[in-house]
Amino acid sequence: IPVDPFELVVFGGTGDLSYRKLLPALFQRDRAGQIVGPSRILAVSRRDLSEDAFRNATRDAIERFVAPADRDPGGVEAFLKRVCYTAVDGNGDAGWTDLKDKLSKDSDFVRAFYLAVNPELFGPICAGAGRHGLITDESRVVIEKPIGKDFATAQTVNEAVGAVFDEHQIYRIDHYLGKETVQNLMALRFANALFEPLWNAAHIDHVQITVAESIGVEGRGGYYDTAGALRDMVQNHILQLLCLVAMEAPMSMDADAVRDEKLKVLKALVPIDSHNIDRMTVRGQYAAGASAGGAVNAYADEIKGESSTTETFVALKAEIANWRWAGVPFYLRTGKRLAERVSEIVIAFRPIPHSIFGGGAGSIVANHLVIRLQPDEGVKLWLMIKDPGPGGMRLKHVPLDMSFAQTFAARNPDAYERLLMDVIRGNPTLFMRRDEVDAAWGWIDPILSTWRAGGDMPKSYTSGTWGPSASVALIERDGRTWHEEAL
Ligand code: BG6
Repeated sequence: IPVDPFELVVFGGTGDLSYRKLLPALFQRDRAGQIVGPSRILAVSRRDLSEDAFRNATRDAIERFVAPADRDPGGVEAFLKRVCYTAVDGNGDAGWTDLKDKLSKDSDFVRAFYLAVNPELFGPICAGAGRHGLITDESRVVIEKPIGKDFATAQTVNEAVGAVFDEHQIYRIDHYLGKETVQNLMALRFANALFEPLWNAAHIDHVQITVAESIGVEGRGGYYDTAGALRDMVQNHILQLLCLVAMEAPMSMDADAVRDEKLKVLKALVPIDSHNIDRMTVRGQYAAGASAGGAVNAYADEIKGESSTTETFVALKAEIANWRWAGVPFYLRTGKRLAERVSEIVIAFRPIPHSIFGGGAGSIVANHLVIRLQPDEGVKLWLMIKDPGPGGMRLKHVPLDMSFAQTFAARNPDAYERLLMDVIRGNPTLFMRRDEVDAAWGWIDPILSTWRAGGDMPKSYTSGTWGPSASVALIERDGRTWHEEAL
């Protein structure tokens, strides 16, 4: 369904996110016929760049980041007619009048500002847009993480943006919420009667959430070294996944109904601080090793630092203090330069109470529901079945396997395609409300400060492995294992 005519102003329009994700996503939506009429994308940055040079760069980006099967020269040229470029100083006053002149005078047009820039510029850009009279009733602003580096700095960012835009106009993007499989988690839970009665401490033994990457910090060392895995991945993406697994059924898909339920989960997280930090967290940093068949450098060499206390891996044991989840650990882990790129959620059910097959109940592997977010998106329900053959009652652990690629012919759209269109449609369900961001930092802050006070270096792990051995110990202490080892 086409969206209303809009103008999307992308600050940081010549940056990595813009070329790699935003422009390719908009191109796909244009090609699908969802972007219609006079809608346009206005890229903005400080650089002096001609319209032609920007269009050429956009063409290159589409060729680089969109698979050949998903693009055609005619479609690309048609899309390029929708993009233009203006130089604006987000921190000052230069260029704003030019930008204003380029924007439609029609006040019904949706006007969205996408801030793909350093968060320090969020406040100045919003203020500039206000000062130069660019904000209409149909305006909204999209901000990317990191929203602050702790609770206090998140307040500063949110105050600065909130001084210009109302909360309902602010879209805090977490691209994990736009991933097909993440939305599917809601479908799985709330469009099937099968799982919900079992979705609690009486039937679930524990939950695992793994977001493993094989890449290192790439060219982003400058940012990453001030962030680390806990801030970069857990405070946002992983806690959002945890919320979707753990929340009560919202009354509807209404934005506030969903976000109210997620917020309750965040507020129920048991604090991790100096009392339990050693039992509940593991920090790691990659050392040299091998990845994708080639030798790779240690983190410290990649960031050209002598030594850094930043973690590139974190494993956590989180607990949720409410009736549904009391006593059910949520084991979370994420890291760079791990053995594979794989993101998945594992719901590990309780074992059967008694085996009629001999060998004790422990000889039967408990059921697992594995939701694979990427790659090879799909859902597997691991069951015990009889191994065929006359050789007696031999049991086997086998998945009921629903691969998205095999079930659906359609291309799997990128998260940004869905989220950008939601911004234009004015649907904030898959975006974070301010109180969610605050609550997430509220849980993360004591972990960060306890680590800092302890002054420990992260544990070293060889690139291409599953992280420090302490991560295995974290879960094995509880008599459980990380999913990939269990298979
Ligand atoms: C970003 C992080 O938010 O998510 C990156 O800043 C990380 O460090 C990325 O690589 C992972 O996203 P995806 O979609 O590739 O899983």
